[in-house]
Amino acid sequence: MPSIPTGVVRQAAAQAQPNIALVKYWGKRDVALNLPVVGSLSITLDSIWTRTLVCFEPALAQDTFILNGVANAAAGARASTSLDVLRARAGITTRARIETRNNFPTGAGLASSASGFAALVTAAAAALGLELDARERSVLARRGSGSAARSIFGGYAEWHRGTRDDGTDSCAEPLLAASAWPLRVVVAVTSEAQKSVSSTDGMLRTARTSPYERAWESTQEADLAEARAAIHAHDFAKLAAVSEASCLKMHALAMAARPGLLYWNAATMAGLHCVRQLRAEGVPVFFTVDAGPQLKAVCLPEAAEKVAAALCELPGVLRIVECGLGAGARVIPMETVAA
Ligand code: DP6
Repeated sequence: MPSIPTGVVRQAAAQAQPNIALVKYWGKRDVALNLPVVGSLSITLDSIWTRTLVCFEPALAQDTFILNGVANAAAGARASTSLDVLRARAGITTRARIETRNNFPTGAGLASSASGFAALVTAAAAALGLELDARERSVLARRGSGSAARSIFGGYAEWHRGTRDDGTDSCAEPLLAASAWPLRVVVAVTSEAQKSVSSTDGMLRTARTSPYERAWESTQEADLAEARAAIHAHDFAKLAAVSEASCLKMHALAMAARPGLLYWNAATMAGLHCVRQLRAEGVPVFFTVDAGPQLKAVCLPEAAEKVAAALCELPGVLRIVECGLGAGARVIPMETVAA
């Protein structure tokens, strides 16, 4: 297979933000292609981001991967697998230097793999001059990390389970623009540590051992339909009900694995009660939690200050990160990655 001619460097940079699932993805029907057992639905955030520069250089003997200024072989291996798919599309074998930066903790339940693979695929496709539409980039980002399929899009997005064995119909699509219903997300960071069991390992263990797998699969379509309808109607109470139910159902499924997966700590639990208490007092807020201990409180804009103040007071809450809803993955000037 040809390489890029010696001396010619092809490079581009992209930014993507994490997304938070309101109707959760958990479980794979094909591990190699990263195809999910269920569809899922999310909101893409605005102020926390991954910025990635991908530079295809003929002189390189192998891909190099620098995360926040430090070489990272494990993350690099996953990135190389994604780049291989793009290299095959472009008909080249040239290796790449990947420099990536997160302005938030990596691997701690803040969806860094979602923004990471969405930015990687977007930058690499641009560097190689591949004209891929967002749907195609979503399929490619999914192969790196399932939730990355959704970070290709801004605002509200749904990742379709798909039915094809080759995964070409398992991609996300936009549901509603961020500006059409600008919710706020208040993240209570309760640990800066890397999570003990990755989402991938947690899903595999769940599929092998949890007795609730079938119930999880058979009830997802109804949750998706309810969430979609709530979003289109801007019905906060309805979105709150289905989102909390999906979050607790995912954790119940994972807790029932052997050994059970416990992603929460005491502060996460305190946060769940705090959000429920606020809602009982009339504050428009609901919670969601992913495969880590951070508590994400989703609220109407006018409630954000009150929600942040309440969560901030809880023992074990280290800091608060507040975000709005943002745009999908996009190409950015290359100098902004190093800045
Ligand atoms: C709990 O997308 O990180 O956040 O596909 O194995 O990389 P892999 O998993 P990942 O899992 C995310 C799980 C979740 C729920 C969600 O985002 O839908």
